[in-house]
Amino acid sequence: MSIQNQHTQLTIGLFGFGVVGEGLYKTLEQTPGLQAQIKKVCIKHGDKPRNAPYDLFTTNASELLNDQEINVIVELIDDADAAYRIVTTALKRKKAVVSANKKMIAEHIAELILLQETYGAPFLYEAACCASIPVIRNLEEYYDNDLLHSISGIVNGSTNYILTRVFDDKIGFDAALQQAQAEGFAESNPALDVEGTDAVNKLSILLTHAYGIIVPPGEILHTGIQNLSASDAIYAKEKGYVIKLVAQCRKLNNGAIASFVLPQYITNGNQLYNVKNEYNGVVIESNLADKQFFYGKGAGGFPTASAVLSDLSALRYNYRYEYKKLKFQTPPKQADDFYLQLGVSAAEIATIPVHLFDQILEWSSDEHSSRIKGIIHYSKLTETNWWKQAGISVILYPDGILDNFEPKYASIKERKIYGSETFVS
Ligand code: HSE
Repeated sequence: MSIQNQHTQLTIGLFGFGVVGEGLYKTLEQTPGLQAQIKKVCIKHGDKPRNAPYDLFTTNASELLNDQEINVIVELIDDADAAYRIVTTALKRKKAVVSANKKMIAEHIAELILLQETYGAPFLYEAACCASIPVIRNLEEYYDNDLLHSISGIVNGSTNYILTRVFDDKIGFDAALQQAQAEGFAESNPALDVEGTDAVNKLSILLTHAYGIIVPPGEILHTGIQNLSASDAIYAKEKGYVIKLVAQCRKLNNGAIASFVLPQYITNGNQLYNVKNEYNGVVIESNLADKQFFYGKGAGGFPTASAVLSDLSALRYNYRYEYKKLKFQTPPKQADDFYLQLGVSAAEIATIPVHLFDQILEWSSDEHSSRIKGIIHYSKLTETNWWKQAGISVILYPDGILDNFEPKYASIKERKIYGSETFVS
């Protein structure tokens, strides 16, 4: 591509003029010193009123992709399939690309890495994970694979906003979701936020930059906040916890990486405890530095635009992701042999498959709900979908990833003959 030195003007073709696209446009207008100018904006609906000059817009993607003067494509649209076509075409035409489309990136990262190598065009996407928090570039550059022990983060602003509004401000789930949509935090299909899909897409991207592993998001265990109940909130309060949707990966003793997205009880000693509203937070643990905490706005027009802007600025000094951990180190394996300490609640105890647990640590029931706390092997969650069904809520306990576990009872069969009392250890 034609960006060779610090003084090169970035001539941008922008796809999308939603909250982020418009945020970027306004910021670039106000900061001419950046030497970056939007030449054309491609939008889906040409008849919508826009806060920018009419002749800036087109509905024809080729006008941007065929324009020799445009040396950077910024892709900020919602439709992951269309984004894939735009980004791959632009890279093949040796244009630099900046994108915030986490779904598209997570699903196609191997091909996108190959295109960058083949055509020599850089592809940056800091805005795709945690918006304003520079987590990708830090994982890529700073943390050596061997030293990186774990990452656990609130990486979806909408669900964190909803949880804050529901638990702290006592408003209903639907009203909180509507507010998240009105603020421009939610995906246009909010199920992507609520059911944990957006978080898992981000985790998939983080895994590539943290450990050099490519795991398609569909292969990462996950659920969202859709089944959390009022009784979960009461239980959490009694125990001094808050509930957060946490994306995490942790290196086990055997070197394999356990990764998943689950709601989790968080103690007030955890940095994630006070991450509220649309803010995101990421705790990174490494052998020497111990814990480090990244905190910032994880959704919304300007926070996302700030990361896009940072990528544009990085293009001016020829920065690109080198995927060093993927290329030059032996990437660790995805773990499939570990245990989780999990809480499960449901209206009826009969709907909780207690026999799948290796040990039940607590069991309680009242007229509204039943809940258990137990240890379960990871495979009991990947092999069946019982825990994703409506009416069943699963929440990970603090320090809930266990490398190994020796059941207190010799076998499930033995445990059963003691009757229900044996569920309480
Ligand atoms: N819907 C996303 C979120 C937007 O709420 O985090 C930022 O990626």
